[in-house]
Amino acid sequence: MNNKAGLNIDGQTFELDTIVGSEGEVGIDITKLRAQTGAITLDSGYGNTGSCTSRITFIDGEKGILRYRGYDIAELAKKSGFVETAHLLIYGELPTSEKLSAFSKQLTRYQLIHEEMLHHFEGFPSTAHPMAILSAMINAASSYYPTLLEKREERFDNHAARLISQVRTIAAFSYRKAKGLPIIYPKSNLKFSENFLHMMFSMPGEDMDINPDVARALDLMFLLHADHEQNCSTSTVRMVASSKANLFASASAGVCALWGPLHGGANQAVLEMLEQIHAEGDDGSKFLQAVKDKTSGRRLMGFGHRVYKNFDPRALIIKEQCDKVLAQLQVSDPLLDIAKKLEEIALADEYFVSRNLYPNVDFYSGIIMRAIGIPMDMFTVMFAIGRMPGWIANFKEVMEDPSSRISRPRQIYTGPTLREYSPIGERS
Ligand SMILES: CC(C)(COP(=O)(O)OP(=O)(O)OC[C@H]1O[C@@H](n2cnc3c(N)ncnc32)[C@H](O)[C@@H]1OP(=O)(O)O)[C@@H](O)C(=O)NCCC(=O)NCCS
Repeated sequence: MNNKAGLNIDGQTFELDTIVGSEGEVGIDITKLRAQTGAITLDSGYGNTGSCTSRITFIDGEKGILRYRGYDIAELAKKSGFVETAHLLIYGELPTSEKLSAFSKQLTRYQLIHEEMLHHFEGFPSTAHPMAILSAMINAASSYYPTLLEKREERFDNHAARLISQVRTIAAFSYRKAKGLPIIYPKSNLKFSENFLHMMFSMPGEDMDINPDVARALDLMFLLHADHEQNCSTSTVRMVASSKANLFASASAGVCALWGPLHGGANQAVLEMLEQIHAEGDDGSKFLQAVKDKTSGRRLMGFGHRVYKNFDPRALIIKEQCDKVLAQLQVSDPLLDIAKKLEEIALADEYFVSRNLYPNVDFYSGIIMRAIGIPMDMFTVMFAIGRMPGWIANFKEVMEDPSSRISRPRQIYTGPTLREYSPIGERS
């Protein structure tokens, strides 16, 4: 293709370079646009704006493709695990068995938070949302590691392992604290997801039987959430990193961005919606009528996606896992019946079909977590644990890019033009 794009402003023509990605996507390079033309672009919500080039994750929303470092998500879900996938995302390659073992050892070595940090938990009210605790604690952790900004490779490796491992420990500790339960320390002989279940649900002095199917479902959920290209939280991490803030500060900002119900908070919102429908004695049909009435302000949570306009490949994988876990745990749940009904009606309804609204990963992940016994306000925290490798990989990409500049978008100002200050007594 022609590697130039033309732009006409007020009769004047400008030529812009194009850049083609390895999967053929075309970007128009506007880095010199303002200098050349005096104009800027306006793209609220950034639906048409590439903020970076990246070698980490590829998504084709129209075709329902998601790949981490070139590997298809369905293949990774079948053959890999969360820890191996975390290594793949951060370091770019699937690890050899030696590298995987070294990486796992590092995760184990750094799994304990600094003992003094336990006092921080005391400062939160028992009503604190675990996402508030998580972001605050990740940021607080940065104060314990003064070497965070040292540019030595092994330092980064240690801090990355520490963050992946400790975010899980902090999450479990905050749950125990909120419940008034004694804190359970991680065990070195347990795998990543098993250890999380142990810290969440064991009691001191007792050995918990960890259901391998539940641990596998959790591991898969973490893996499916591990990265997702330039979404709201990852872009936030990259933006904070662009100012050369440290890894923990950048990740803590990512947690805050993830919290919102239009992003990571959607899995919690799905369950809240199902509970509300159930409490109203509805099977889902009345609720869907309300959703279609724009004045109701209701949305079918867990449906629709900014990028996937056909289907969410993660939803297909997790739906299968959801059915397995529920059958295995012999869960009979009225909320699940409502979820199935909503899915059935919406997939056949003109409103949803014409707008390409399909179930996304959050529609099913909430149901699995509920079956496992994870409380609803921890759902988004689970997402954050899974997303950590993706944030770290993106942070690393920013830090290693010699051409990286501080992110600083512009705006089109639409406020008042220059006016004179009026003394207080003369104001109407
Ligand atoms: C994910 C989401 C924020 C994407 O938003 P978006 O790409 O900006 O899509 P838009 O808001 O432009 O929606 C396009 C149309 O579909 C409708 N729509 C989108 N998602 C909808 C939903 N979940 N329920 C009902 N209608 C929805 C919009 O009202 C709009 O309708 P219109 O064209 O008649 O105005 C949106 O689909 C949503 O809010 N989903 C529910 C929350 C969720 O599950 N988030 C998790 C994402 S992984």
